[in-house]
Amino acid sequence: MNKILFSSLSKKFVMALAGLFLLMFLPVHLIINLMLLKSDPVPFNRAAHFMATFPVVKIVEIALIAAILIHISWGIFLQIQNWLARPVGYAGGNKSETSFFSRFMIWTGASVLTFLVLHFFNFYFIKLGLVPGDPENFYSVAHNLFKISAYNYIYLICFVLLGLHLFHAFSSAFQTLGLNHRIWTPVVKVFHRIWTPVVKVFALIYSILIPAGFAYISLTLWLFR
Ligand code: HEM
Repeated sequence: MNKILFSSLSKKFVMALAGLFLLMFLPVHLIINLMLLKSDPVPFNRAAHFMATFPVVKIVEIALIAAILIHISWGIFLQIQNWLARPVGYAGGNKSETSFFSRFMIWTGASVLTFLVLHFFNFYFIKLGLVPGDPENFYSVAHNLFKISAYNYIYLICFVLLGLHLFHAFSSAFQTLGLNHRIWTPVVKVFHRIWTPVVKVFALIYSILIPAGFAYISLTLWLFR
């Protein structure tokens, strides 16, 4: 029993580490993508070229793809384990705020995964030579893509679901890694009382700002370019 608990805890731990890595990737991706709003394609294409060719970034990219795969497969595995352990749910339902968000994590996560598959066909697979397109001109690829209304609708819906996933993911990763408050409790009790809401507020700001930033790019390219 202990072994099972430990192994599922360690899976959660690895999943949280991979998730935190992904949380760090998104602001970088957003900042680079904001260059798509310039009328000059050179800065964005230069940045994309740098990201595609600089050796250190290439190593980070391999780590990123590995983190995505680990995060997704462990997530699905833990969810199935949960369902098998508790097939009929809690009697009377579990109405806590945490369980409300965590119950939907598998579904918001699945939406982000669906988005990623589409997104890779739109961009990343061009870089890998699997889909036709010019990897040296992602600026035009993005501008042409967001001229199509259907893509904007799909992307915008996915950004909202991404926001919901990120909000719970953020606090949950902190909790799993013990960064939320447990390690601080013996040190300063007051800090413990402040730290948890700080994580929550930061999670809220992050999960609104990041998807809103991506949505702003999509909307601007669609409606104003
Ligand atoms: C307006 C929204 C977005 C645009 C225009 C966009 C654009 C791009 C482009 C041009 C690439 C390939 C070029 C490159 O490697 O630099 C790319 C790759 C990628 N995007 Fe996005 N992206 C958007 C949103 C997102 C979101 C919300 C996520 C995550 C949920 C995401 C995850 C990724 C990943 C994992 C890669 C592959 C890794 C990489 O090449 O760096 N993107 N995106």
